[in-house]
Amino acid sequence: MDPARALLGIWFDDQDVAAMRLPDKNVCVDCDAFCEKACVNSGRVPIRQLMNELYEKVRPEAEIHMPDDEERLKCDLCGVPLENPFLLSSSVVASTYDMCARAFEAGWSGACFKTICSLDIHEASPRFSAIKGDNGSIIGFKNIEQLSDHSVAENMEIFRKLKKNYPTKFILASIMGQDEAEWESLSGLCEENGADAIELNFSCPNMQEDGLGSDIGKVPELVERFTRAAKRGTTIPILAKLTPNVATMSPAAEAALRGGADGIAAINTIKSIVGVSPYTYVSAPAVKGQSAVGGYSGNAVKPIALRFIAEIGQNSKLKGMHISGMDGIETWRDALEFILMGSCSIQITTAVWLQNNQ
Ligand SMILES: Cc1cc2nc3c(=O)[nH]c(=O)nc-3n(C[C@H](O)[C@H](O)[C@H](O)COP(=O)(O)O)c2cc1C
Repeated sequence: MDPARALLGIWFDDQDVAAMRLPDKNVCVDCDAFCEKACVNSGRVPIRQLMNELYEKVRPEAEIHMPDDEERLKCDLCGVPLENPFLLSSSVVASTYDMCARAFEAGWSGACFKTICSLDIHEASPRFSAIKGDNGSIIGFKNIEQLSDHSVAENMEIFRKLKKNYPTKFILASIMGQDEAEWESLSGLCEENGADAIELNFSCPNMQEDGLGSDIGKVPELVERFTRAAKRGTTIPILAKLTPNVATMSPAAEAALRGGADGIAAINTIKSIVGVSPYTYVSAPAVKGQSAVGGYSGNAVKPIALRFIAEIGQNSKLKGMHISGMDGIETWRDALEFILMGSCSIQITTAVWLQNNQ
């Protein structure tokens, strides 16, 4: 048997499926649990007890019908087919060819690539910080990361290679222009180089310069103007990615619709300060003794994200717009909650990052 896979199922709230995938006979009964010693948390995870619970408590009650294939997960993003609703969101987990290729091989239907711009980006290090629960697991995650530090030409080459090698996967190109002409030209370039749709980053909370990112998302007139500019450059669907750093999202979403957007992506990360040191008076992450307000994501912010998704989903003026929901999704149940509130596709960063780095 594969206890690692079953443990992953338990961690991700998926006990029923984990129990149904165990071998018919409970092999843990006559085993000396060498897996517990081999575990990276040696001796601290009661694997045999957990497996026995799956056999004795969960399995008799599980009524899961396991589909033979994943056909039922098929959906679309503004008419473009998706193998399933799950995309990597634009960030540190979707910023190179290899990251996206690995995700595609693992079954993700696509990726929203790290925001492309023509700014000269120099990232600070460290640029992440986290709030942990009593058991050490990460609840909330703060970042002060900016945009892609590859040139536009390098990113276009990545798009071409991804499209060539993974023609059925969905490339959502996240872009940020500095004026109307650049929003227009970037959206056109992304289409020419293989993107299936464009996401307009009106919501990055970490921009070094004023007048970009969430500074745009807060002003409906700017959202409308730059959406219209991006729309002029392309024929593929456009999503406006909106900021939660506002009281209500509807004014910006309605402005995006007026500008020609086909959908809304929400939410981007929430402006935050975490971990103020009582010794240095600096918050985390500190870089050369200084820090900055940064974007907060992870499971802690899910309730806030759901509130915004519901607001957009219930707004009758936005009827028919695609909603790509995100922020705080870790398990299939989290994803289902976003779908029930109106999301048609799902994007994830922090849980993916933590899976690979914790
Ligand atoms: C390290 C990091 C970098 C990010 N970079 C971008 C970015 O370049 N563009 C963007 O639109 N959103 C960016 N985001 C926001 C994510 O795309 C997304 O909105 C949010 O993180 C999703 O919530 P989750 O991380 O809880 O799944 C970033 C998030 C993180 C954690």
